[in-house]
Amino acid sequence: MGCLGWFKRRKPRSRRRGSSGPATTTTSAVSTSRSDDSGAVRPVSKSTTTTTGSSTVSQRSITELYEERGHGQLRAFEFEELRAATNDFSRAQKLGEGGFGSVYKGYVRPLDAKGDRIAVAVKRLNLRGLQGHKQWLAEVQFLGVLEHPNLVKLLGYCATDGERGAQRLLVYEYMPNKSLEDHLFSRIYSPLSWNRRLQIILGAAEGLAYLHEGLELQVIYRDFKASNVLLDKDFQAKLSDFGLAREGPTEGNTHVSTAVVGTHGYAAPDYIETGHLTAKSDVWSFGVVLYEILTGRRSLDRNRPQGEQKLLEWVGQFGPDSRNFRMIMDPKLRGEYSSKAAREIAKLAQSCLVKNAKERPAMSEVIEVLRRAVQVELAAPSPGPGDKPNSAGKGKRVDVAPPSRR
Ligand SMILES: Nc1ncnc2c1ncn2[C@@H]1O[C@H](COP(=O)(O)OP(=O)(O)OP(=O)(O)O)[C@@H](O)[C@H]1O
Ligand SMILES: [Mg+2]
Repeated sequence: MGCLGWFKRRKPRSRRRGSSGPATTTTSAVSTSRSDDSGAVRPVSKSTTTTTGSSTVSQRSITELYEERGHGQLRAFEFEELRAATNDFSRAQKLGEGGFGSVYKGYVRPLDAKGDRIAVAVKRLNLRGLQGHKQWLAEVQFLGVLEHPNLVKLLGYCATDGERGAQRLLVYEYMPNKSLEDHLFSRIYSPLSWNRRLQIILGAAEGLAYLHEGLELQVIYRDFKASNVLLDKDFQAKLSDFGLAREGPTEGNTHVSTAVVGTHGYAAPDYIETGHLTAKSDVWSFGVVLYEILTGRRSLDRNRPQGEQKLLEWVGQFGPDSRNFRMIMDPKLRGEYSSKAAREIAKLAQSCLVKNAKERPAMSEVIEVLRRAVQVELAAPSPGPGDKPNSAGKGKRVDVAPPSRR
């Protein structure tokens, strides 16, 4: 798919001596630099300039917030500690590989050095040019500041510029249930029930709403997709991967102008065409994932017959109000869902996927609709037309706690 700028590949098949020490290299990189999409690492500027504003508006940047609050919360790891923790980044410890590097399971000593070692996920970034460092820096800064039950927790980082080359690593809390992508599309896992799908997507929506509306500055995530929705032991959704996150436009401005980055199949067409980034670009991606949840199909799947490869084109034939809407539903659900709630969610997806970005709902509105759909689901006493009984969800409450704001 042609686009401006660069896009992540989907699932690739894969100077001084010693550690420069986080207190020097890492801290200085994190605290005095700010990256932008040009690939350069620039000095911190106190203001963010966006293209449509008549004047430059000053606002605390993520770097400044990081200086204030994030700094002390993250642990600086030695490279050797992470190497030992992951058995020298052995294949056996590998959890997966993404566009920016490989992720390994490991065990590290707790911060207070008391008690058992804790399970972590260690991402070792590919350092191709400055891009890898940029992703690492963005992730450290954003996750050093952001805190929400639906965002993955970054425990620490590691940066060395040793003889064997530069290393940039990130250490996260370990998420035992992998990602939404794994559960929706891989046959290794048992299918996600309808209620669990609703619960997961609601949690993910709350994470996005926090980024867009729950902070003093707006954060645009830019990489919302099923593989970045990780699942904890209770299948609670946690957004991961903030390497592409970007501060939203400052007050009085409508968008940020940026190089186009993201993942094929999820990025909003208006953003791809213009490079104008807004929170509504994330809302589009959310709409794509809503359809993935309904259908159990990937947004792009070259293994399907022509005409079914692009999910949004395919579902377009089966509108939420059409008779044959059920044709799109994931057969792995075995009809165990409320037809009414499913149609509501398809309508919601369509509203997220309107061409004009301004007409897409805000994430807080998305949450309201999702909660209503969940209520419909709970209230459904009998199966919808043509549905089998909702055995998976019947009588079980879906947790619809209000979104936390910090
Ligand atoms: N904190 C974590 N706990 C457990 N597994 C994780 C964690 N973070 C990532 N993973 C796993 O590691 C794998 C690779 O993740 P990664 O984010 O690098 O790639 P991706 O999300 O598939 O693609 P992309 O680079 O485009 O985001 C995924 O399968 C994911 O499930
Ligand atoms: Mg990821």
